[in-house]
Amino acid sequence: MVRKNRLFISVTLLLVLLLIYYFQVGSLLQTQNSNGDSCLHYYEALESGWSNRFYSVNQESLAPGKDVVQLVTRINIFSRCLQQTGNRDIQLLRDIEKRLFPYLNFRGLETNEIDFWPTHTRWNGEVYHASVLEFGSRNGHFVRSRPIKYNSALSFWENWLQTATQAGSRGIVISASDVQLDETLRLLKVLRFIKNNFPIEIVYNGDLSQDTIKSLVKCARNQDAPEYPAQEIWFLNVHSVLSPGYSDKFLTYSNKWLALIFSSFEIPILLDSDTVPFVSIDMFYKLEEFQRTGALFFKDRIISDDLFEPSQVEILKEVIYGCIGLNLTDESILHDRIINHIKDPTVVQVLENMLIKRYKHHLESGLVILDKGRHLFSMLTSLALQFSPIAEYFHGDKEWFWLGALLSNNPFTFYPVDASNIGKLGSVISKETTGEFYQICSVQLSHTDKDGSLLWLNGGLNVCKKASWGYDYEHNQRLAANFQDTEELRKYYQSPVQLEGIIMPDADISGWVKSGECFLFNYCTLFKEGQYGKVIKFTGTEKRRFSQIVSVWNEQIS
Ligand SMILES: *[C@@H]1O[C@H](CO)[C@@H](O)[C@H](O)[C@H]1NC(C)=O
Repeated sequence: MVRKNRLFISVTLLLVLLLIYYFQVGSLLQTQNSNGDSCLHYYEALESGWSNRFYSVNQESLAPGKDVVQLVTRINIFSRCLQQTGNRDIQLLRDIEKRLFPYLNFRGLETNEIDFWPTHTRWNGEVYHASVLEFGSRNGHFVRSRPIKYNSALSFWENWLQTATQAGSRGIVISASDVQLDETLRLLKVLRFIKNNFPIEIVYNGDLSQDTIKSLVKCARNQDAPEYPAQEIWFLNVHSVLSPGYSDKFLTYSNKWLALIFSSFEIPILLDSDTVPFVSIDMFYKLEEFQRTGALFFKDRIISDDLFEPSQVEILKEVIYGCIGLNLTDESILHDRIINHIKDPTVVQVLENMLIKRYKHHLESGLVILDKGRHLFSMLTSLALQFSPIAEYFHGDKEWFWLGALLSNNPFTFYPVDASNIGKLGSVISKETTGEFYQICSVQLSHTDKDGSLLWLNGGLNVCKKASWGYDYEHNQRLAANFQDTEELRKYYQSPVQLEGIIMPDADISGWVKSGECFLFNYCTLFKEGQYGKVIKFTGTEKRRFSQIVSVWNEQIS
């Protein structure tokens, strides 16, 4: 009797499982076979008014993890729906994109399409409005423009990539406002010095004065010569594409998203105004890591004394699980879970630094390369995270670059070399030392290739770009002891750096230590032979070349 019962229960269980399987797979197949509508109908089932809760900076959320998962999932499903072909319910699609991307000026697009599109101004003053710009693929010269032909059967973002962007176009994008003028001028000089021939787009949100534009053009174009070529510089005002209520939410930080997303290039390379490249821009595009993934980021200093609260790490785990199904609940098998799910070893390391060591700093956004053909929705997710209930978890916006790609399940990677400290190589005198022992204290963060050659750095090329000599002099005894007065300190801060070498610290033994100089932007690192860290001493040839770039950057701005 007992046996019969057991058999009955087993058979019933099996039947139930089969039924569940049948319905699950059945509905999945239905979604895939359909003409796209049923995919979009997912949104109709959502409660009304759902978009307003998201994209609200600083707003308290009772369940931040859940809110972020919902937001990202909606964007992910939308991007997957776009990949389905066939007849579409275009009205439904419009409704959804208005709610998912409330910062776009859809009202403008519908009522006055011409005014909606951004305005490009070329260095010679020519204004191109509602136009696709075309550049020569080999020399980066401006070829022609043609009017944007909006296809009302497509979503806005499909239009953006397919009808408003030249396929495969590459160029440098710099997000700027009047505040960064001085640094941007210096960057332009360096770009000329390294004979850049990619077009340059300065992206702004209505906040660049005519005087600033004039100075930038002069600096990019004067004294044209083969060894110092004039630059194909453009100015892109994105103000009109943003909905009025959102335009001023894009303050300095979030302007970077605008620059990447709305730049006219399909494959932009984003530079900070205080970034300095030491190799040709083409080299970055050629990096295997970029070619493979279409999104390449560089690592930040490993800072081990600014950590997440354990509760924040729990929310981040919840978000990661909810968006990409990586189950991180069991502490003891975290490593195995991560390496089973994430194939890229550099990304694994970054995730472990965040989830196990609780580090907050992973990415340095001074140089980012991105193929929007593959990663537009990663960026839209990053932008959404910037406005989400977990927006305040990180300082600034840089970590959203990689988290956006991770949570939208798009392959990306970090360049697999740690960030390093670059500057004057100081010998450390110590009684018990036998081998070499060096220290570098510097504001500049450098990035080298796998062979140790310098690729680029961030932080400009003078000793300290902050006007903090007064503050530092008062608050730092060592500075007060070594400099006669604040005026002497100012002169030192504004003097050119000396690039003698690089130290890549061993963060577990002797990491990045704030020196107290330059408004706390200056860090010291140590190398001790055979014990910790790595040192690279530049050769005479390297030093001469680097010092030329340092001089170009530091020249008096006329
Ligand atoms: C996640 O993993 C834990 C432990 O391995 C397991 O107990 C739990 O059920 C899993 N969660 C989900 C939702 O799969």
